[in-house]
Amino acid sequence: MQAKRKSVFVCSVCGAQAPKWVGQCDDCESWNTLVESRIERSTVRRATRSAPPAQRLDEVSIERDVRFSSGIGELDRVLGDGYVEGSVVLIGGDPGIGKSTLLLQSLAHLSQSVPVLYITGEESAQQVAMRARRLGIDAPELALLTENNLEDVTGCLESRKPRVVVIDSIQTLYSNQLTSAPGSVAQVRETAAQLVRFAKRENTVMILIGHVTKGGALAGPRILEHMVDTVLYFEGEKSSRFRLIRAIKNRFGAVNEIGVFAMTERGLREVSNPSAMFVNPNRDPSPGRVTLATQEGSRPLLAEVQALVDRSPVANPKRLTVGIDSNRLSMLLAVLHRHGGYPLYDQDVFVNAVGGIKITEPAADLAVALAVVSSLRDKPLRQDMIVFGEVGLAGEVRPVQRGLDRLREAAKLGFKSAIIPHENKSRSMPQGIGIIAVKRLSEAISKMRSE
Ligand code: TYD
Ligand code: MG
Repeated sequence: MQAKRKSVFVCSVCGAQAPKWVGQCDDCESWNTLVESRIERSTVRRATRSAPPAQRLDEVSIERDVRFSSGIGELDRVLGDGYVEGSVVLIGGDPGIGKSTLLLQSLAHLSQSVPVLYITGEESAQQVAMRARRLGIDAPELALLTENNLEDVTGCLESRKPRVVVIDSIQTLYSNQLTSAPGSVAQVRETAAQLVRFAKRENTVMILIGHVTKGGALAGPRILEHMVDTVLYFEGEKSSRFRLIRAIKNRFGAVNEIGVFAMTERGLREVSNPSAMFVNPNRDPSPGRVTLATQEGSRPLLAEVQALVDRSPVANPKRLTVGIDSNRLSMLLAVLHRHGGYPLYDQDVFVNAVGGIKITEPAADLAVALAVVSSLRDKPLRQDMIVFGEVGLAGEVRPVQRGLDRLREAAKLGFKSAIIPHENKSRSMPQGIGIIAVKRLSEAISKMRSE
């Protein structure tokens, strides 16, 4: 066997390959992100290998996934009911958001029953131990390894054979086999591939932590998404104490499921009833605030959207959103103008989803539109009212999925009134909540009284 050397150019943001250097990546359109990467090509002739036999579908033996709890209910929920043996989970998120803390908490719990290993290339053993003490984690069985070298890491894995491994973080590992720097696309891909192989062979749960970086210096974990079974992302504003974990990809569960946590001095605490944390039916009514019933994964979530509309001092007014899609807001402002009679072209409009959550579903439209109108008119909605519904370009209010679940959640938390799409109204509406079913945006606006 003889090895032939060849170079390719790999984008450090998305991992796309190009045969020669170009200034802009063809795939993700980032500038100046291509780096040279040498590849070893094996020149073994294919014909000399015996062809693998194919199997009939009905001959494939089906074994059930073996799952076990992570020790943290909200994490189990996003994983699709706990860790699956032999699966590889990638957890991404901004630095400082709580990735290391959460996984340390999970391993501490698991260490009571199974062998676990926490491998860190980011912090010293002392720093990890100090954090564990500060957070009140007592786990004498938790094995810790501070190492950056992949060959040493796999050596330790082979000898200890842990059931659950955390790699903190994948960008700090490097393999002796490659000349490129730790964190480069080639290194990240190679080290991850070896860890994935180990996980599959030994039936180990492998959890890879990855930093999401905007620049090109460190490889973002996006290139890893294809190699792993489950991808979870940490979300949340630095200033807010809420943290959400969202499943982006999951071979063993539903995507878009979320887990909700609150940051405390004792680590991340689960929030099993998130709606109650985000909204309060007894708050003081004030203009521009609307409680929205959204759906996150398998459960409804009540959240608050706030809008502030103010006369703009400049010819080109500001539109700013936090946690809401800004294109969607532009569309809603146009619909409000054409079908609600509210000209907003000379107004600055700010919209915020409170608590650092990101709302992506169109069912938020009606709440955003009513929050804008409420702020513009300086008239509050009644505080015990919730709103949901998609708004179409013709000013119609369209039905949303799982309307009944949203209403039940609202009724459970003490909300007394709801503006909903007409088609979401059915005979079996929950008790104790007055339903205002609307067909058009203008109708919703006329019914948003303050008491
Ligand atoms: P850390 O878990 O290190 O973030 P990441 O691994 O994502 O970079 O958390 C950052 C710091 O915040 C760390 O010093 C511990 C602290 N922290 C708490 O005190 N309580 C918490 O609930 C969390 C999540 C973090
Ligand atoms: Mg960390």
